[in-house]
Amino acid sequence: MNNNKSCVRMLEFPVHGDERGSLISLQTNENIPFEVRRVYYIFGTSPAVIRGKHAHYKLEQILVAVSGSCEITTHDGICLKKHSLSSPNMGLYIKDLVWREMSNFSEDCVLLVLASHEYNQRDYIHDYQLFLEEAKNESE
Ligand code: TYD
Repeated sequence: MNNNKSCVRMLEFPVHGDERGSLISLQTNENIPFEVRRVYYIFGTSPAVIRGKHAHYKLEQILVAVSGSCEITTHDGICLKKHSLSSPNMGLYIKDLVWREMSNFSEDCVLLVLASHEYNQRDYIHDYQLFLEEAKNESE
């Protein structure tokens, strides 16, 4: 069931640092709670643009601003939340059936996304009303 507590949460990744700089490792079953099947990154998005505006039937994702910053608004059918991503050691975990919108991208933002499944257009819900119905059905 899609419940509030686990649908969306911020993860903090350990930083391995020394005098040479910093390194963060993202690894399935260590600090990533799903098997990573796809990685993509979003960059060159101007601050006025809003991306996303969809939910997924079956997809887990982790979003990391590896450079710059952006804001993610999520709605899990009950809770609307705003999250700021501005540090490469913070990742926003988003489970399935969560509406997301990404906005306020800084010019230097590179938003890395780890996903649990391959790209599949049929997994997308682009209609907000349909999403609300699906989320309601899931929670019943
Ligand atoms: P889109 O879903 O519009 O991005 P966002 O969620 O940030 O609004 O994707 C932009 C384009 O990239 C669109 O033509 C689909 C394509 N795309 C892929 O080919 N593979 C992928 O894994 C993703 C996420 C998108």
